[in-house]
Amino acid sequence: MRALTWQGKKDVRVETVPDPEIVNPRDAIIKVTSTAICGSDLHLYDGVIPTLMAGDILGHEFMGEVVEVGRGNGKLKKGDRVVVPFVIACGKCFYCQKQQFSACDNSNPADKADMSETLYGYQSSGLFGYAHLTGGYPGGQAEYVRVPFSDVGPIKVPEDMEDDEVLFLSDILPTGWMAAENCEIEKGDTVAVWGCGPVGLFAIQSALIMGAHQVIAIDHYPHRLELAKQLGAKVINFRDANVYQALIEMTGGIGPDAVIDAVGMESHGFAFDNIYDYAKQTMKLETDRPHALRQAIFACRKGGRVSVPGVYGGFVDKFPLGALMEKGLTLRTGQTHVQKYLPMLLDLIRDKKVNTTFLISHRLPLEKAPEGYRKFSQEQNETTKIVLKPGWEAASQAQ
Ligand SMILES: NC(=O)c1ccc[n+]([C@@H]2O[C@H](COP(=O)([O-])OP(=O)(O)OC[C@H]3O[C@@H](n4cnc5c(N)ncnc54)[C@H](O)[C@@H]3O)[C@@H](O)[C@H]2O)c1
Ligand SMILES: [Zn+2]
Ligand SMILES: [Zn+2]
Repeated sequence: MRALTWQGKKDVRVETVPDPEIVNPRDAIIKVTSTAICGSDLHLYDGVIPTLMAGDILGHEFMGEVVEVGRGNGKLKKGDRVVVPFVIACGKCFYCQKQQFSACDNSNPADKADMSETLYGYQSSGLFGYAHLTGGYPGGQAEYVRVPFSDVGPIKVPEDMEDDEVLFLSDILPTGWMAAENCEIEKGDTVAVWGCGPVGLFAIQSALIMGAHQVIAIDHYPHRLELAKQLGAKVINFRDANVYQALIEMTGGIGPDAVIDAVGMESHGFAFDNIYDYAKQTMKLETDRPHALRQAIFACRKGGRVSVPGVYGGFVDKFPLGALMEKGLTLRTGQTHVQKYLPMLLDLIRDKKVNTTFLISHRLPLEKAPEGYRKFSQEQNETTKIVLKPGWEAASQAQ
């Protein structure tokens, strides 16, 4: 089959690789019809997530048709159309029982989990296409993919719903939702969201659905800020304004009640601390650049909530622990417990309460995935989300 493989920093290629096979009775093989490139894939593309190996197949946002099921799978059958969560979870362990699916204890093979135990104290769950730290599972930017524990994760989707409407159930919609949920929004609240990428834009929609009085979005790309505005947010371009001052003015001097860092470990900008982080990251003295998170914690009102869907991989410097503690802030974060939110979010899409397709700026055949990565990485203003279609001929025009 054809699949998008990582070969090195900013080097991804579509190659012919062996077809996946059923390994365990609860597996299924999915023929991928749509798969997206995520901001999290950019961290892999940029080589800042450890334990990726040349030849690894990327992709954790995908959906398609079930073409084969293991004998232990009582839920799926050949021909079903499903969206697959990026988190691999067994459904039975202590964590899955608590619906903390991204903490699943059984989906990261032991020899790989040792690495996450060393870094994080306990093993992380398995994720599709996300380096060997999270299990080394081949991802879904491919024609076919093996889905472990396929009786737990995949959600069947109604025939009358288009791929593009439901694809983002695999990750960014539940991620935006959980980010807003972690804000514990109360009536009258202002929520400030750093980053108007796909995750930030879904966090904005979710916060408004949950009753936020005002959502303020922060980024530096005019087109992404415009999308935030269309969703109902007020916006701040951090290139033109002092973010902290602007937030103070927009909240009657109090500051936002809750803040969301939907930027993660590769913060843009040339603030002093960000330049410091660039230098330290280059010298491998720090793994992540947490400028947006520092700013969010600083701007959050006393007693407020800090929600961090943005991905961080390792260790940061100059973390404002004093501000967090002295202001009495609550910090909540995590890889999304995708499975927990799927039926409810599918209903919201069906009832047109959440708009998903507005986000898609490009649809490309799988063969053009390397071009997609380049665009999503270098032309972020106009490239809001790229959906790859493995079924399309290589010569198909982008839409
Ligand atoms: N927790 C999870 O389960 C989960 C799931 C999916 C994605 N993520 C993470 O969420 C983050 C966002 O993902 P995405 O797909 O939206 O990525 P993206 O790269 O498309 O968007 C990030 C946005 O942040 C903006 N940004 C950069 N620096 C900023 C700053 N200093 N202030 C304000 N905005 C700034 C960028 O301009 C960009 O628009 C990433 O870190 C991704 O890895 C987490
Ligand atoms: Zn993703
Ligand atoms: Zn589990």
